[in-house]
Amino acid sequence: MKKVYVAMSADLIHPGHLNIINEARKLGDVILGLLTDEAIASYKRLPALTYEQRKVIVENIKGVSEVVPQTTLDYVPNLRKIKPDYVVHGDDWRTGAQKETRQRVIEALNEWGGQLVEPQYTPNISSTQLNKALKEIGTTPGIRLQRLRRLLATKDLVTIIEAHSGLSGLIVENTSVMVDHHLREFDGMWLSSLTDSTCKGKPDIGCVDFTSRFNTLNDILEVTTKPIIYDGDSGGLAEHFEYMVRSLERAGISAVIIEDKVGLKKNSLLGTEVQQTQDTIENFSDKISRGKKAQVTTDFMIIARIESLILKAGLADALERAKAYIAAGADGIMIHSSAKTPDEILAFCEMYKQLEQKVPLVVVPSTYSSITEMELKQAGIRIVIYANQLLRSAYPAMVKTAESILTRQRSMECESEGLCMPIKEILRLIPGGI
Ligand code: SPV
Ligand code: MG
Repeated sequence: MKKVYVAMSADLIHPGHLNIINEARKLGDVILGLLTDEAIASYKRLPALTYEQRKVIVENIKGVSEVVPQTTLDYVPNLRKIKPDYVVHGDDWRTGAQKETRQRVIEALNEWGGQLVEPQYTPNISSTQLNKALKEIGTTPGIRLQRLRRLLATKDLVTIIEAHSGLSGLIVENTSVMVDHHLREFDGMWLSSLTDSTCKGKPDIGCVDFTSRFNTLNDILEVTTKPIIYDGDSGGLAEHFEYMVRSLERAGISAVIIEDKVGLKKNSLLGTEVQQTQDTIENFSDKISRGKKAQVTTDFMIIARIESLILKAGLADALERAKAYIAAGADGIMIHSSAKTPDEILAFCEMYKQLEQKVPLVVVPSTYSSITEMELKQAGIRIVIYANQLLRSAYPAMVKTAESILTRQRSMECESEGLCMPIKEILRLIPGGI
């Protein structure tokens, strides 16, 4: 029998996939190269189903003889191993994003006289449309909760940005850009205490209580599907933190980050300008372990945030705390800094690499914003949080519009000068309004 290679993600199987497999089996034994989560996440959103789930499905499709993992978008490593007589793919890849992948397949097949067969692409059905329909159905708390751990298992760097309302949640959910044929979007949301409080016109001192914060959370949960990391400030008393963990977990939040401070909460970026006190290692470790014992699932994450650099306690103190918090059960370490350059964060990362027991490292580059995601990856950072940028951009835009109307005593200019979106667009922005 001839060997036929077909590669796919198979996240949402539709008649187009079955057509390809059907055409392939006419040529010989079908070996299906199933894209791993890592391979898929390298160019688009993480699949809805895990590799194992997708494997069970494709193994049971008539005509598939064998399923092998394809760990990169590039077919060539698998092709060189298998040396198939044929590769079968829909003819839609002759143009667009996959053009180069196709060329490499042709060149590899030429090495042993293999052939590329391209049946006509099945019209009127696409995974993108199906994905959109799935998003409209929504998600469940359990699936959303697990998603952060899945992202950590598949991506080098998970990108998170702040949301403070249903609308900003929708921006995080739906905004994407195409760069070099790769779809880029944020992986999840940060429920910042700073932007949640600011949005309510209150200071970031813990005066917006958990019930109110939870309402914001609910607004976001209702209209999005991406994972959420909750900013839990210090977590309060250990006895109260246990309840916070339970409530967040029940709602499908993936992680809470708590900072090792005590007393009246002040925003960390104020540094030593204001009175801020760090918790003792013993107390904070105890809070972490009590939180871990309180959670019901194994998926929920408690991330310990170290304030040593903010409070000028030094790198050695930060590292000692990291060790202790990991030993207490922390699922991640957030190291914070309010310096203008990333130097101290990078120095911490180097020291952190030497630790025997490590958990994912999280950073919030608000003040040292020149650092790139590539540099963060190289430093070993696993989660980057853009903690306040959406609100910081919304506020000046609103002030400008208010000033324009006050100055001109009418609203025409703020529309013609592009400060406001057209009425038609705002009416159509949220599906279901028309
Ligand atoms: C927040 O976004 O509320 C944070 C990060 O906790 S920071 O503002 O830098 O303290
Ligand atoms: Mg905060």
